[in-house]
Amino acid sequence: HREGRLPGRQDWSSWPHYQAADAGFRGYWYPVCFSNQVGEKPRKVRLLGEELFVIRDRGRIFGMKDRCPHRGVPLSYGNKQFPGTVSCVYHGWTFDLETGDLAAAITDGPESPICGKVTQPTYDVEERLGMVWVYVGDGEEPDPIDEQLPEELVGNAAVLGQRIQPREGNWRFACENGYDEGHAKYLHRTALWRLFKPMPVWNKTKIVKRGRWIYRVQEQQFWEADFPGLGRWSGLGWWKARPPKETKNIGNTSSHREVNPVIAAQEFPGFASVSMPGVLRIAYPTFIHYEFYVPVDADQHLYVGVLADFRQGARTLPFYAKYLGAVRWLFHGQFSGQDKWMVEVTDAPPEKLYRPDDSLLQWRKLAEDTTEDRLDRLREQGLDPADPTA
Ligand code: FES
Repeated sequence: HREGRLPGRQDWSSWPHYQAADAGFRGYWYPVCFSNQVGEKPRKVRLLGEELFVIRDRGRIFGMKDRCPHRGVPLSYGNKQFPGTVSCVYHGWTFDLETGDLAAAITDGPESPICGKVTQPTYDVEERLGMVWVYVGDGEEPDPIDEQLPEELVGNAAVLGQRIQPREGNWRFACENGYDEGHAKYLHRTALWRLFKPMPVWNKTKIVKRGRWIYRVQEQQFWEADFPGLGRWSGLGWWKARPPKETKNIGNTSSHREVNPVIAAQEFPGFASVSMPGVLRIAYPTFIHYEFYVPVDADQHLYVGVLADFRQGARTLPFYAKYLGAVRWLFHGQFSGQDKWMVEVTDAPPEKLYRPDDSLLQWRKLAEDTTEDRLDRLREQGLDPADPTA
């Protein structure tokens, strides 16, 4: 039956919204930097091909389009002359950070008639998980960010190990790589991370949708396999003589550890899941690893890796020791570096797919259907999103 779902498509044209989303999907919150990287001076951000800047004013962070409407100079070269505003470096046009209204044109005096006649586009900005999140939409009221974040990260205390890294390559390749079933079995077989977290190999994976996530559910596992005429191949590293014991709920990703109660409560049907607008979630028994693939433009993305350990108080210390001492290098470094490399060298379709690529197809379908729903909602509100297939 699986072959029936894999028609061997040669390009992305069956998913026109996905195909059109070179520079990302609009209508979402994206993490752009760490909170402590934003101060009283503008910080330039490129997101979904748009130039903007973020700036902190009396504790709160604001976002604004980074092009002065006067003569097109980046506003991010400017600074704050008055509280709650930013002034362009060139002629001193001064914009209200909250509303975007031109509050003053310093070089034309306090009575300048241009004031009140120009409004600079602003962006909704929030701070979560120690990071700054920017909403890129089409004029609609954004959904609350907490409805977009992975559910378990809202309202549960967690210690976080994080990494934000600019990377080459289209964001879709990064997302597809993250969720790609086959590469976990093969590309990462040499990653040192697997000394600690062996990766079983599966066939007959099935993808199930629950809420806004799709999950890989492994139906059958093979640790060693005979390939007729080729000999024997094992997904296990040389250091593992036997497969680890099964654990409940989260597949066979680790041995015998007790499952953290926050993670157990989620009852994930599979250990690897993905959701819009390109968020990967890998649940281990005692922590969860997330990857947010943030489109900078069609050719670059931000890799945002977050490792969340749901514990509190003094028990957070061992986490930091472990993260800084080993995990940061092994996982966010070497393992993830293999992914970085593949995203750089993957080519755009045409492509020829095989059985494990069902994970890619189901992700593309999720993106396609979700986008269709969103555009319908915008049209109902009388908003006119640019034709995404144009
Ligand atoms: Fe910005 Fe003139 S270009 S004030």
